Amino acid sequence: MKGKSIRFASLVCAAWLSVVPGASAEGTHPPLTDQAGDPVRGREIVRDTSRASCLICHSISALPDRDHGELGPPLDGVGSIYTAAELRLRIMDARRILPDTIMPPYFATNDLYRVGARWEGQTIYSAQDVEDVVAFVMTLVD
Ligand code: HEC
Repeated sequence: MKGKSIRFASLVCAAWLSVVPGASAEGTHPPLTDQAGDPVRGREIVRDTSRASCLICHSISALPDRDHGELGPPLDGVGSIYTAAELRLRIMDARRILPDTIMPPYFATNDLYRVGARWEGQTIYSAQDVEDVVAFVMTLVD
């Protein structure tokens, strides 16, 4: 149920998106690199606890990790719901879809809250990391 209302909220927000620079009305983003994403590498990136692991907030049953978060909806099956372009924008900066989200923007440096000096001006993921993570998440199909 929770997932459904979130999806509905993203639909409502699609209209709002048309006023946000860099995001399309559909809430999508084109590939960031010429090199296709590597799902095997993406799988390791999402598990990397030193880089705001998705598992802090989401569960992914395909992964062997012991601890899975519950702050966000389970990611099982999201590859059947979203296109790669939709997932890319969400991973880059979910605030462009849901302005008040707690999900960290993995490829943005603007308006971040309490960023340590070491991280200032840096993105959590590189452009290729984003592509690899998108490729992995796209394998999470029903
Ligand atoms: C700090 C918590 C947090 C982290 C870390 C996080 N997310 Fe999220 N994510 C959320 C929340 C909460 C939502 C529900 C919508 C919202 O409030 O933004 C969400 C929504 C999503 C959705 C939409 C799910 C649906 O069913 O509609 C996807 C896809 C997603 N996240 C992918 C990721 C990926 C991939 C990562 C790691 C690269 C990640 N998230 C890291 C909190 C997080």
